Amino acid sequence: MSAAQKPDAKAVNRGVAPVTYGTGERPPRGDYASARSDFTCDQSWEHYTAVDHDLYRRLYERQVAQLPGLACDEFIEAVRHLGDPRRIPRFDELSDALHKATRWQVVAVPGLIPEEAFFALLAQRRFPVTEWLRSPAEFDYVVEPDVFHDLFGHVPLLFNPMFADYMQAYGAGGLRAGRLQACEYLARLYWYTVEFGLIDTPAGLRAYGAGILSSAGELRYSVTSSRPQRLGFDLKRIMRTRYKIDSYQASYFVIDSFRQLIATTAPDFAPYYGQVADATELAAEARLATDRVF
Ligand code: PHE
Ligand code: CO
Repeated sequence: MSAAQKPDAKAVNRGVAPVTYGTGERPPRGDYASARSDFTCDQSWEHYTAVDHDLYRRLYERQVAQLPGLACDEFIEAVRHLGDPRRIPRFDELSDALHKATRWQVVAVPGLIPEEAFFALLAQRRFPVTEWLRSPAEFDYVVEPDVFHDLFGHVPLLFNPMFADYMQAYGAGGLRAGRLQACEYLARLYWYTVEFGLIDTPAGLRAYGAGILSSAGELRYSVTSSRPQRLGFDLKRIMRTRYKIDSYQASYFVIDSFRQLIATTAPDFAPYYGQVADATELAAEARLATDRVF
């Protein structure tokens, strides 16, 4: 799950207004009419068809097969928590296991939700997971996050105590960033860590970002292709950097450890936001003299 760029969602008497990426001509896919005011809804597990479960299994199997040598060990170790790959997991069962491990839960949402609602859920250690699954025609690529991306990409690392704390801190920081008009900067941090982050390990670079871990093609591309640049994690630099939502990334940022990620993001960001606002914005493919290049 990620928040929409320019959410336009007003709470209405029944359900909530749908959210799409950008100004978007594409109609929203989810059933926002039955969502609650915090944008959560019921998973309605019984409504998944045999085709859905089979497609989930095929997505899962293709992705698990490519993890060795490309995904970080913490992710590989945790992916088993998703349970039987032949069925889309029941969120309530997954939540029970997750709560025992790190006090997180997964909650169903109809799709993209406004930033504010997204941050609020994370701050409460509730991870919003899109309830619908892509169609078989979207086996290789789906534009918006679906239940496969959200579960397979995001949920395993929520079983990791350090990463679990990072996600909650991010949510709390997001609520504050909203009051400081700095949501865009935090969205970039999310994008280049939670969605597309790489980590340096003794065995080489590995992926920990959900957007790459759930992608058929970008997982290998991000770790091994010579086309994109891989740059050392640099918080304010990331806050200045635009990103691509409709193609593989031009730049990936590499952390040394989850400990580094947490330590670097622990300080109060309020003074950083002013500095970032005064600095020039950077294109996704920009390269600075100060970049540490991998
Ligand atoms: N330290 C950040 C702040 O003061 C909060 C935060 C933590 C944001 C981790 C993102 C990730 O706002
Ligand atoms: Co995501």
